[in-house]
Amino acid sequence: MSDYKPLAHQKALVTGANSGIGEGVAIALGQAGADVVVNYVEGDDAAAAVADRIRQFGCNALVHKADVSREDEVDDMFGRAVSELGTIDILVNNAGIQRDSDFADMTVEKWNQVIGVNLTGQFLCSRAAIREFLRRGVVPSISHAAGKIICMSSVHQAIPWAGHANYATSKGGIKLLMESMAQELAPKRIRVNGIAPGAIQTPINASAWNTPDALKRLLTLIPYGRIGLPEDIARAAVWLASDDSDYVVGTTLFVDGGMTLYPGFSTNG
Ligand code: BGC
Repeated sequence: MSDYKPLAHQKALVTGANSGIGEGVAIALGQAGADVVVNYVEGDDAAAAVADRIRQFGCNALVHKADVSREDEVDDMFGRAVSELGTIDILVNNAGIQRDSDFADMTVEKWNQVIGVNLTGQFLCSRAAIREFLRRGVVPSISHAAGKIICMSSVHQAIPWAGHANYATSKGGIKLLMESMAQELAPKRIRVNGIAPGAIQTPINASAWNTPDALKRLLTLIPYGRIGLPEDIARAAVWLASDDSDYVVGTTLFVDGGMTLYPGFSTNG
């Protein structure tokens, strides 16, 4: 894998790339030959460490602090990326947060925070990337496509989630945002796809795996019998960003160990 450079000479921007899935994706894109903008909103040192890992593959890496829910910060970030790297070929809309609450106690603040980062953030970053893809068009020596966008969704774009209505709503929204962009922009040779991770071992869901009891309960939801790792998602992202998936448009790739296969029905129903 490390000698295969399907993203050579391409420029990628990964949001929320300082930890978890975003970190894994940013490093894998660098390993696949891309220069990478490592976006983050907090954790300067962690973002710098991700950039260092990417540079070890001989690629360029920039760190850029920006809140993806803010239009001005997103547009400034893309402006810098294009001026320093020349263009952007790949956007991975990864930044996402959870602010869980029973429904009756859900505050407007928690609702707006999650919709703002997870959904509006993907809209704003996609719009900025698409403007650049349309300006530049296809460069055949670089990629068959004028640009690729990967929207990080979740199994919760399909599975309702009690106590997490804001999060599940944001992920359901991402599904149709992704599909609508894919339909509108495919004629311009822009490919938009999604990845729906299941339970991946990252800080966002630490309480679901950091004790033996919690992990045992979690594994009852995963037919494949193990928690996912950021690398499981990163390999899917490299493929969706590369010309190896050139005919894949508007699809959500579930990378979930079978979590969406209704495991409760294996012994019931
Ligand atoms: C959530 C995790 C959760 C997983 C499976 C993800 O989208 O962020 O907290 O463990 O879905 O339920």
